[in-house]
Amino acid sequence: MDVASLLPLTTARLSLRLFTPGDTDDLYAYQRLPSVARYLYRPAHTRGRSEQVAAERAAQTAWRSDGDRLALAVCRRDDPGVLGEVSLALAHARAAQAEIGWTLDPGHQGHGYATEAASALAGFAFDTLGVHRLYARLDVENTGSVRVCERLGMRREAHLVENDLDGDRWGSEYIYAVLSTEFGRRSRD
Ligand SMILES: CC(C)(COP(=O)(O)OP(=O)(O)OC[C@H]1O[C@@H](n2cnc3c(N)ncnc32)[C@H](O)[C@@H]1OP(=O)(O)O)[C@@H](O)C(=O)NCCC(=O)NCCS
Repeated sequence: MDVASLLPLTTARLSLRLFTPGDTDDLYAYQRLPSVARYLYRPAHTRGRSEQVAAERAAQTAWRSDGDRLALAVCRRDDPGVLGEVSLALAHARAAQAEIGWTLDPGHQGHGYATEAASALAGFAFDTLGVHRLYARLDVENTGSVRVCERLGMRREAHLVENDLDGDRWGSEYIYAVLSTEFGRRSRD
């Protein structure tokens, strides 16, 4: 499936659209920050790297094979400026398993935008892309991200202990997940 014609997704406050090469400066504004890179297990980006990321994401619209990725710019409905991003990765196409992720520019955190955007993307994953199980992996110290998972109704399924190296620190991760049959059940009951 090519998802380009199904976008943008909209919520009460937000529009989730494909990135364009013109988003490089907004992307770099948060990808360059060590506080944002900290829990992503990668160094802060250079501007050149953010430029490359914006161009790559603009072209990533296929959703059919293991490793396919969709990253959407989170914008206010009335303003094209990028507040952050939400992403989906097709981890296992045959079993319809996908990983979800989120990042906001620190200047736009604390308003519920990550949860609102991730909730819309999860609904799209289940209802339109046919995902069966959606999961998130996050550092156990990433309390902001833990709260997003819990607000989405995801279940903590695993606690991986010192399974990765974050610079010179052993990193431990939680895996949270939700099934298509579970997502949004509370709001339909
Ligand atoms: C993880 C991350 C996206 C969370 O951002 P966030 O702004 O805390 O999350 P939300 O957008 O869902 O906002 C929720 C907060 O907004 C508050 N809020 C304020 N106004 C609100 C409104 N109108 N509606 C909903 N929530 C609102 C909520 O009370 C909540 O605060 P709390 O967590 O202190 O209780 C952010 O910390 C981040 O980008 N971190 C760096 C990258 C990263 O770690 N990504 C995840 C890797 S796994």
